[in-house]
Amino acid sequence: MLPIVLLFMLPILGLAAPAADDSIIYESFAKCLQRNRIPAAQVPAMLYSPTNPAFSDVLNAYVRNLRFNTTATKKPSIIATPVDIPAVQATVVCTKEAGLQLKTRSGGHDYEGISYVSANPFVILDLFHLRNITFDMPTQTAWVQAGALLGELYYAISKQSNVLAFPAGVCPTVGAGGHISGGGYGPLIRKHGLTVDHVVDAQIIDVNGKVLDRKGMGEDLFWAIRGGGGASFGVILAYKINLVPVPPVVTVFNVQRTRTQNASDILVQYQNTIEKWDDNLFIRVLIQPVTVDKSSNKSVRITLIGEFLGNPDGLLPLMNTHLPTLGLTKADLQEMSWVESMLFWANYDNATSPEALNSRVPHDGVGFLKRKSDYVQKPIPKEGLESLFDKMIELGKVGLVFNSYGGKMSQIPEDATPFPHRAGILYKIQYSVNWHDTSDNLTKEYLGEAVKLHEFMTPFVTSNPRQAFFNYRDIDIGSTTNGNNTYEEGKVYGVKYFKNNFDRLVKIKTAVDPTNFFRTEQSIPPLPK
Ligand SMILES: Cc1cc2nc3c(=O)[nH]c(=O)nc-3n(C[C@H](O)[C@H](O)[C@H](O)COP(=O)(O)OP(=O)(O)OC[C@H]3O[C@@H](n4cnc5c(N)ncnc54)[C@H](O)[C@@H]3O)c2cc1C
Ligand SMILES: *[C@@H]1O[C@H](CO)[C@@H](O)[C@H](O)[C@H]1NC(C)=O
Ligand SMILES: *[C@@H]1O[C@H](CO)[C@@H](O)[C@H](O)[C@H]1NC(C)=O
Ligand SMILES: *[C@@H]1O[C@H](CO)[C@@H](O)[C@H](O)[C@H]1NC(C)=O
Ligand SMILES: *[C@@H]1O[C@H](CO)[C@@H](O)[C@H](O)[C@H]1NC(C)=O
Ligand SMILES: *[C@@H]1O[C@H](CO)[C@@H](O)[C@H](O)[C@H]1NC(C)=O
Ligand SMILES: *[C@@H]1O[C@H](CO)[C@@H](O)[C@H](O)[C@H]1NC(C)=O
Ligand SMILES: *[C@@H]1O[C@H](CO)[C@@H](O)[C@H](O)[C@H]1NC(C)=O
Repeated sequence: MLPIVLLFMLPILGLAAPAADDSIIYESFAKCLQRNRIPAAQVPAMLYSPTNPAFSDVLNAYVRNLRFNTTATKKPSIIATPVDIPAVQATVVCTKEAGLQLKTRSGGHDYEGISYVSANPFVILDLFHLRNITFDMPTQTAWVQAGALLGELYYAISKQSNVLAFPAGVCPTVGAGGHISGGGYGPLIRKHGLTVDHVVDAQIIDVNGKVLDRKGMGEDLFWAIRGGGGASFGVILAYKINLVPVPPVVTVFNVQRTRTQNASDILVQYQNTIEKWDDNLFIRVLIQPVTVDKSSNKSVRITLIGEFLGNPDGLLPLMNTHLPTLGLTKADLQEMSWVESMLFWANYDNATSPEALNSRVPHDGVGFLKRKSDYVQKPIPKEGLESLFDKMIELGKVGLVFNSYGGKMSQIPEDATPFPHRAGILYKIQYSVNWHDTSDNLTKEYLGEAVKLHEFMTPFVTSNPRQAFFNYRDIDIGSTTNGNNTYEEGKVYGVKYFKNNFDRLVKIKTAVDPTNFFRTEQSIPPLPK
């Protein structure tokens, strides 16, 4: 027993465990599962140690950022892939007993790999088997298990109805567990708000391994897991969601303009009118440095991608009133069902059938990436935009994405959920760099570019706090290596993600997980006793 005891003390001492003890950890974990009523026959199929030949495949299956798929990336001591709820409960209890850190993974889309990477000895609790989606059509609700992917949800909704939808993200392979608990959003944001504005119940496993529903967990914890991140509070098993109405036909467009085609004028009009748009309209703008000629001269191009919950006759007059310089015409528009629009947002061509939404393999492949975020309250003037374009050309690779807010978002109070970026926000900025080259030098350069552009944007975005979107995980804005963070450490990133809601999250954390078992690099810290 002695070596095991020592091993499990290592995280407390802040040291890394030697890899040779993987089999000891495995055996002891397997025994613990059986003591917790998991049939012995079920254990080998749900538990992977690094010595298992399938370990890498199971680990990599939901790695969605190749920055965290290197030999230097710390690997878990165990991956647990439970097939039912009792096995998830036992995994929580046994991870605690083993003194290991728990990392829960649903879809693996965390931009910093926080669901499957840790500096400490850790267990990945991988929920991909928990993907049931169960509808109750009379009440227009559904229970969605955490390991279901958004594309699976959209497809399943479309099989029930062509006039119901769910307001969530545009990438079909994002997992429900991370996305909803982090306050997801998508093209329905201006009409219907966030994912968390449509959650009516939940099922969570607490630090004692107990399964709780909304009644059992109480309104505080239920509030916290609607945008405060699931990983600080427990393991989310499922959310019950309200579906929202959409028309049978929606209209989408994707148009590009270069800097010389009045891009900055169009962006001025975009920013100045967002608050006046019909709630049925959502526009995302990509701003990217592009190569314009054979001598590799760079310029900037903007791409406006829009969705209107209505037909072209309703959309065109709005666009010509608010963004006349864009000159949108009927030829730019495509009509389709809402579920087809989710294929459109995911870059599938218009001949693709909705079945493609059930694919668990990302349509755009998996590469290296970095994301950051900002919020804008005052339009950036034309000269500011031109200087931004110059900066983006100078940097060369990093792009920006503007996601329009307003509409329903402005009507929901900041403390209704942990997600605080509501009234007064014109749009959110995502900083985006993607690459496929494996050289460390390029990785350094691109990460550096994102930081430089973020610094450049300081005068144009929110301050005190400089706000950031929790689901656009960004470790640069503050973090701790082992999640054993003090209130002051947690506050550094906590107020950027949650503003004044941070303190309420800390109180709830202190009540439900005082020993900080559920911790990550950016989790909510409990207050000391
Ligand atoms: C290609 C791509 C497109 C995206 N598009 C959008 C978008 O349109 N809108 C948007 O809002 N966001 C978007 N995101 C961000 C996305 O919402 C977040 O990364 C989200 O957290 C991913 O959820 P996941 O389950 O896939 O991630 P995971 O990596 O599995 O988890 C993310 C975090 O949540 C925790 N977690 C996961 N499951 C559970 C659970 N069951 N219980 C407790 N904690 C859990 C993890 O431990 C981790 O801390 C996108 C991300 C990518 C990579
Ligand atoms: C967490 O940090 C506190 C204070 O720094 C320390 O006393 C405690 O031992 C740490 N716990 C772990 C598990 O690292
Ligand atoms: C991750 O790295 C391993 C080992 O180099 C490789 O086999 C695997 O294909 C990589 N995963 C992805 C998604 O590229
Ligand atoms: C999913 O649903 C099926 C059919 O109702 C059921 O047999 C199975 O146990 C469910 N799985 C989980 C993990 O809840
Ligand atoms: C590229 O830019 C340079 C400097 O602005 C200019 O002199 C040159 O003509 C451009 N090349 C092309 C092919 O337009
Ligand atoms: C685009 O900009 C040019 C040059 O400033 C101007 O002449 C033209 O009228 C603008 N076009 C529109 C549609 O605003
Ligand atoms: C589908 O895309 C093709 C090629 O881009 C285009 O020609 C066609 O008009 C589109 N069909 C519809 C219905 O929009
Ligand atoms: C990477 O950077 C190092 C040091 O900064 C340099 O010595 C090396 O030549 C670079 N490698 C490449 C492939 O550019």
